[in-house]
Amino acid sequence: MNITIEENKNPSQKPTGALGFGKIFTDHMFVMDYDPQNGWHDARIVPFGNISIHPASTVLHYGAEIFEGLKAYRREDGKVQMFRPMENVRRMNNSAERLCLPQIDENDALEILTAFVRHEQDWTPSEPGTTLYIRPFMFGNDETLGVHSVKKATFMIIASPAGSYYQNGFQPVKIMIEDTDVRAVRGGTGYAKCGGNYAASTRAGERAEQMGYSQVLWLDGVERKYIEEVGAMNVMFKIGDEIVTPKLTGSILPGITRKSCVELLKSEGYKVSERLLSIDELHDALVNNKLEEAWGCGTAAVVSPIGELNYKGVKYPINNGEIGKVTQHLYDRLTAIQWGKAEDTFGWTYQL
Ligand code: PLP
Ligand code: COI
Repeated sequence: MNITIEENKNPSQKPTGALGFGKIFTDHMFVMDYDPQNGWHDARIVPFGNISIHPASTVLHYGAEIFEGLKAYRREDGKVQMFRPMENVRRMNNSAERLCLPQIDENDALEILTAFVRHEQDWTPSEPGTTLYIRPFMFGNDETLGVHSVKKATFMIIASPAGSYYQNGFQPVKIMIEDTDVRAVRGGTGYAKCGGNYAASTRAGERAEQMGYSQVLWLDGVERKYIEEVGAMNVMFKIGDEIVTPKLTGSILPGITRKSCVELLKSEGYKVSERLLSIDELHDALVNNKLEEAWGCGTAAVVSPIGELNYKGVKYPINNGEIGKVTQHLYDRLTAIQWGKAEDTFGWTYQL
């Protein structure tokens, strides 16, 4: 791949103090354009800044947009590594296929990602729990109002030194079970990481936040009967000695953290089931004290303990609102691999 580089002549100071999530950006961004005649072309790393798009661009009217989220981690030896980046590349292409956006050759995409993150790697913070959050995204920018599959597109990557996604870090969060709005239906775009899924989720998320809850737990879009996932993470429950996570039915995002947690737990002998879990079964487990632990998992959220579920106005504390043993263990194991503190027997980490 030929990637041109235009260095930023006015580099910013690296941040000190609390980083928050997704508020600070590095000095450069990656941009590449697509059209049917030239395919993907003009790959470039340029100074971070505003972009200009045509007012009729497909993304502005019909939501032709997909994105990814992954992290680079600063190891104790100072080197920087990413976590399972090829998984993000593959999921991005699956999302592109669903939204009729052009796909990018897997090896080219990984090469681009690596080149960009290597260029920006000095921005990877080293305080405990901090990372360089990487956000690849693609949008359609045909300059016409006709509704068709996208002909012209742009692929970009931006990066953000980030702290914890949740304000209080690794602490139990409160989650509201949403029984009115739905996020996705089978046959729709639930399995794709597209902006529209998040736009449609915002109303319920805002309602939950106003009531003191971090996010919502979605039920399936047809019967509102089966547990799906949380706003920005997949979900797992420890019910007796079984760890249950909703199976991938097409309406749930196939999370890379979810996949890694399942693989980790299975390798340690835990009984893990990817299956349908109805709200009735979950409710029964809640009222009969069989639900021992619950947690969310995602790139931004890492492993996030759930200390309370609210269903139809009734509050159900989980594990007395404290971090459960398996949740803590999973967080410790996963983050040790991600930051290079433990041996990576799975081959998940990718050093720059
Ligand atoms: N589900 C949703 C809706 C998400 O936004 C995310 C975050 O990316 C996840 C699940 C977890 O996916 P991953 O572990 O690949 O970050
Ligand atoms: C991620 O975990 O990378 C996500 O994309 C979640 C995001 C919506 C904040």
